[in-house]
Amino acid sequence: MSDNFDDLQTSYGRCLRHGPFIARFYEIFMASHPDVPALFANTDFSKQHMALRRGISAAIAHAGGSTLARRTMAEMAKAHARDGRAPVPPLLYPYWVESLLKAIAEYDPEHSPALAERWRTAMNRTVGFFAGQY
Ligand code: HEM
Repeated sequence: MSDNFDDLQTSYGRCLRHGPFIARFYEIFMASHPDVPALFANTDFSKQHMALRRGISAAIAHAGGSTLARRTMAEMAKAHARDGRAPVPPLLYPYWVESLLKAIAEYDPEHSPALAERWRTAMNRTVGFFAGQY
């Protein structure tokens, strides 16, 4: 029986209902590595928050084997490729994953080490997919 990570969609829902989760993620991520802030120098964060909000949900579905998210994932991977609209050096992906996990630990009232490990597994599939397309 394949693992569709539905528990992560539920956890994600709790985070979003708990307060400004995406804003908190970016606060943590910006402070996680000196190269990150410059990448967002010209970013309209009201748009970016919405884009990432959808992107994380698609990433969970993709990690769970859903084909529905395939197109969204391909578009995001293309945007972050070497010649994409927002190139992301793959060495930065672990900082993205750990920053997301820190924000989840703060915003999911039902957070646990076991749940954190499942988030890490799913998001490592996402960033592995992006890095593979770099
Ligand atoms: C090290 C990790 C990452 C960095 C540094 C990064 C950086 C960026 C930057 C600079 C942009 C462009 C913002 C602008 O319009 O000015 C962007 C767009 C975006 N990012 Fe990331 N990103 C990372 C990982 C991810 C991941 C893992 C996801 C999804 C789960 C994601 C989803 C998106 C989406 C949906 C957009 C909008 C794409 C578009 O408008 O074409 N990013 N990102």
